[in-house]
Amino acid sequence: MTSFSARRVRADIPLLTRVVNGRAITYLDSGASSLQPHAVIDAMSRYYELRHANVHRGVYQTANEATEAYEGSRNAVARFINAPGGENEVVFTKNTTESFNLLAKSWGATNLKSGDVVLVSEIEHHANIVPWFQLRESTGIEVRFIPVGDDYRLDLSNLDGLLKGVKLLSITGMSNVLGTRPPVKDLARAAHDVGALVAVDAAQMLAHGPTDVADLDVDFAAFSGHKMLGPTGIGVLWTREHVLDTMPPFLGGGGMIADVRVDGYTPAKGVARFEAGTPPIAEAVGLHAAVRYLEGLGMENVAAHERILTHDALTRLELTFDGRVRVIGPRDTTDRGGVISLDVEGVHPHDVAQVLDQFGVCVRPGHHCAKPLMRRFGLAATARASFGPYSMTKDTDVLLEALEHAVKMFG
Ligand code: ALA
Repeated sequence: MTSFSARRVRADIPLLTRVVNGRAITYLDSGASSLQPHAVIDAMSRYYELRHANVHRGVYQTANEATEAYEGSRNAVARFINAPGGENEVVFTKNTTESFNLLAKSWGATNLKSGDVVLVSEIEHHANIVPWFQLRESTGIEVRFIPVGDDYRLDLSNLDGLLKGVKLLSITGMSNVLGTRPPVKDLARAAHDVGALVAVDAAQMLAHGPTDVADLDVDFAAFSGHKMLGPTGIGVLWTREHVLDTMPPFLGGGGMIADVRVDGYTPAKGVARFEAGTPPIAEAVGLHAAVRYLEGLGMENVAAHERILTHDALTRLELTFDGRVRVIGPRDTTDRGGVISLDVEGVHPHDVAQVLDQFGVCVRPGHHCAKPLMRRFGLAATARASFGPYSMTKDTDVLLEALEHAVKMFG
């Protein structure tokens, strides 16, 4: 059992020493991007200082070290998500969005035809909607939506009907707006029963609790390094090896080939054929350090910590504002993570965020790249607070203080 202390995590994050607008920073935007501990920043600096070279090319000492570091990261990511086939199933991309584009443009374009159904949900991020719409334009597939209920949870009352003709269920593991965590494992079982494959958008999951793709029994998982205490510029598409073997390359160029002739080319085997060009090497090193750091915290501990924080914040928001500040998302912590979208009566979310900024509070206003969801609830935007492993009750204290000011100012 690893020991967990949010205070210690906080002390590891240099950005949390910032003072903004005369106040200590209160970072409540981990849903948009998490903060990096020294361990990640230092690993990347050390890599550039002493080991940088291109990977899979040179034969000299530092080139071998860079390749080992890059491939070592792939191995660590596989371990972190319990990938059954290990590092052979981990493709490095740029971010979650690119991972979904790879999935749609490689697996989707090859395996789906006119009339086949991709089932997503109304609470998806655009990254798990737009690539399917693009595929619809070129192949004639149907993109179908699981509706969200008034309780901010998926309405699964007609799941059997929704699953008719489905070849892929592609669903978020946690909504970046509502915090809702759909029952991915149950949905995966139901989708497999009709012969469909299952993809999970794990972007909002990885830094907030254990993720076990084997136990979830999904076929694809997409996520980003920068949302799990790692750097920007690196993401992952995890896919079962036997599925990956059926996928053609997505981007062409150096690094993804076994051979190139004047009459054509032969793609490389395995994950390499999806990683054209010089990959994000330093970012992979940073991601490896982030994985090690999160493993050190213990993901069960992080989940328990964020559950307490979320419960406390939801309770206090309700008690303090008596309805003037509405939480757009489930009010209890059952199957829900630490993302809290707020609708302040009579105040535009951008104004809310600007007032909060005066208190050093960082939240994200906007539609959060989830416009179908916002439309469903008749909202143009919300102001969203989101927790990370370094968040503490004192962050909620400042959030409430700043919100009270906003309510008074515009009231
Ligand atoms: N997808 C990120 C968010 O929800 C950027 O803010």
